[in-house]
Amino acid sequence: MKRVLVLTGGGDCPGLNAVIRAIVKRAEQESDWEVIGSVQAFDGILKDPMEYVVLNNSAVAGIHVRGGTILGTTNKGGPFSWPVKDKKGQWTTVDRSDFLMERLKKLKVEAVINIGGDGSQRISQALYEKGCNIIGVPKTIDNDLSGTDFTFGFQTAVQIATEAVDKLVTTAASHNRVLILEVMGRYAGWIALHASVAAGAEVCLIPEIPYDPAKIVEKLKKRFIKGKGFANIVIAEGAKAKDGALVYQKSTEPGYENIRLGGVAYKLMHELKNAGLEAEMRETVLGHLQRGGIPTANDRILATQFGVKAFELVLEKKFGHMVSYRHPDIVSLPILEAIDKYNFVKPDSYLVHTAKGIGICFGD
Ligand code: F6P
Repeated sequence: MKRVLVLTGGGDCPGLNAVIRAIVKRAEQESDWEVIGSVQAFDGILKDPMEYVVLNNSAVAGIHVRGGTILGTTNKGGPFSWPVKDKKGQWTTVDRSDFLMERLKKLKVEAVINIGGDGSQRISQALYEKGCNIIGVPKTIDNDLSGTDFTFGFQTAVQIATEAVDKLVTTAASHNRVLILEVMGRYAGWIALHASVAAGAEVCLIPEIPYDPAKIVEKLKKRFIKGKGFANIVIAEGAKAKDGALVYQKSTEPGYENIRLGGVAYKLMHELKNAGLEAEMRETVLGHLQRGGIPTANDRILATQFGVKAFELVLEKKFGHMVSYRHPDIVSLPILEAIDKYNFVKPDSYLVHTAKGIGICFGD
């Protein structure tokens, strides 16, 4: 039997289970392949004792409708930066990638399928350079990977954010308030932009278009004069004012290398007040609700296509490649190319043009 190891790394995302199920179902069509899953990204293989599970048809039955990942995940550490305490009791990291390669050999793993975002795919590339037979599957609700038209999980996050705005509209209207919804997306404004257009927000603030609070106040004042005494603003967590800075916290969690974005909605409320907005304002931070729950049908379909393609790339020995959606096809490209640059919203794109065409203000 040949073995393929599957793992999910980084933040979770609706659709991960659909990818796992598709890999297993496609592998079961070949008589000589067995699928095993590492628990919590590569940690399962690096731990003592190792934690991995055999994935067969019965293990994955019906999981495509479930959010999260049956394998568990982590966005801390990894084989190249494993957190350990030094002699002084301070957290530091060590490279355990050679040890990982030994363990994969010991387990007789012929190929690895790493389902994860840009951080995980950087790990895939580094392992590939060490001789690992690895295939990447992109995932992220943020849709910020440039190697694919869309990532699964994004549609689900947009749906959740849209429904949140829909709900906020009714309470904003009842109280004549300005309600601000902060959504995720890291340094890209995809979730905010799509939810704003879908729900019909009055203002959409994204990292790619730094805003001027005075411009937003100007727009909102006109709207209140017209007698429509309420408004909804969607702001991406990575958005900032023209002369402003990102709102974030440094994480104290060992091995967590990212900054934690969040809190820009509160900042915006103060900026709008200072710029002369007299309306009552309230803010909502949607947070991890955007990553939970069942994936939309489209995300399940995209995830399933990625899973089947990933296993077929293993059969073709196209290692060092990542699956990708290039409408209408599922293709592959070198992981190195996929992680080369981020996918940002282009301020001159047709969707921004559309949003402006229906009167959505970006504060520019
Ligand atoms: O990358 C996905 C994402 O949900 C971002 O949108 C967000 O900034 C970040 O992860 C949150 O990470 P954590 O789960 O560590 O709080």
